[in-house]
Amino acid sequence: MEIFHISAECYPVAKVGGLADVVGALPKYQNNAGHHTRVVVPCYDTKFRKENEFECVHWGSIKLGKFDFPFSVLKETTDKLGFELYLIEIAELFDRKDVYGYEDDIERFLSFQIAALDWIIGRATVPDVINCHDHHTGLIPFMMLYCSKYQKLQKTPSMITIHNGLYQGQFGFDKLSYFPEFDLAHVNVLEWDHCINSLAVGIKCAWAVTTVSPSYLNEINASANGLESLFNLVRYKSKGILNGIDTEVWDPAKDKMLEKKYSIKNFEKGKQQNKEILCTLFNLDPSKPLFSFIGRLLDEKGGDLLPHASALALSENFKEINILILGSGNSDIEDRLNSLLPDYKGNYNTFIGYNEELAHLIYAGADFLMMPSRVEPCGLNQMYSLRYGTIPIVRRTGGLKDTVIDFGDDGNGICHDQSSVGDICYSIGRAVKLYKDKTHLNKIIKKGMETDHSWERVCQEYIDMYNLIIDKK
Ligand code: GLC
Repeated sequence: MEIFHISAECYPVAKVGGLADVVGALPKYQNNAGHHTRVVVPCYDTKFRKENEFECVHWGSIKLGKFDFPFSVLKETTDKLGFELYLIEIAELFDRKDVYGYEDDIERFLSFQIAALDWIIGRATVPDVINCHDHHTGLIPFMMLYCSKYQKLQKTPSMITIHNGLYQGQFGFDKLSYFPEFDLAHVNVLEWDHCINSLAVGIKCAWAVTTVSPSYLNEINASANGLESLFNLVRYKSKGILNGIDTEVWDPAKDKMLEKKYSIKNFEKGKQQNKEILCTLFNLDPSKPLFSFIGRLLDEKGGDLLPHASALALSENFKEINILILGSGNSDIEDRLNSLLPDYKGNYNTFIGYNEELAHLIYAGADFLMMPSRVEPCGLNQMYSLRYGTIPIVRRTGGLKDTVIDFGDDGNGICHDQSSVGDICYSIGRAVKLYKDKTHLNKIIKKGMETDHSWERVCQEYIDMYNLIIDKK
């Protein structure tokens, strides 16, 4: 099967969150399973772009209203990623360091989608399926169906995978002229709540809709930032497919980013060695249980609860625990977290920013990983942490609910129901008690390390979904 993934992020090309990890891994496993998978992402000004070789396979020009943007399609030549990677270079719009957060994001991602389709229709063969990801590529299924210049793709099945339904890419009808020509009889398809809503358009027009976990699909039918009724309408073509993790990248026994590697056979020693490295780096005490957080510091992830919860847990259990936070996001949360530093020196530290290597070291060296998310479509960090023998402490929501079961129910982690300071601290208290019972603790760690979250298992579910829509052609 010929599969195209079109996405704003892909690890290691450009990463903001878990979307990149999925788009950087799933295609590799689809190829391993005998398919021909290509990944298309914008060409940002990143380290990856500078350090790798590319050849130009196509160039053209797109029109957005009265502006012309020349673009080229660059193919990565070494094939070391395990799939064919294509970068769409639109210098004026994407030659920037960050993936998102610019005033012209709508123009950027609309032009990316148009350039991708312009290139695809010029190729000798039409793909069997196009898998779009999140709102940045949500207009593609619409353009494939209704824009006259893409008629060649009208019968090509498209699928949209929703990694996060909170972000929807809305914009006003004043930008309607940006679209390549289409019959205006279909203009209502673009509309949701008086604007053009890229995610809603993708959901309406794609032949299939997937979310990144089954529980998240159930949840968005009840609460989806205004799209609930739409999700209910498209239930017949929707499925929740739990993400996998790249077990080649995330393997404590082979992890290139770890100085001290370990496996399930010697995890006690291996984790302690990594913990010592980590504690030396961050002035923490390796004899105490180490609680960590890795991720974006946003309300959505429960980041706003961390300063208060940390202060409370540290004062209640002062000198009994360590807390280490790695992340960035909301600057108010960042400041509040940093303001705790003087009071809890030696037991608490932060690293504000994004650092992939440090994340690997924390998964290896921490004892517990906190994920108090209000919304978590899937969550990958709990799966990485399980694989590295770090017990996840999660709020029961979305993919967290599908992957972590409380140890009281013979599970692999610690769960709470509310996104609240009280619930987080209560869970930390249970974790401190558990930490003292090494036999029980090690049993839970082992259970986590043995869980199979590999893409091999999940990959077939994607293929089955593609086959379903291909059969409808
Ligand atoms: C988004 C979601 C996260 C999910 C990831 C990959 O970042 O917030 O829950 O794991 O996408 O699908």
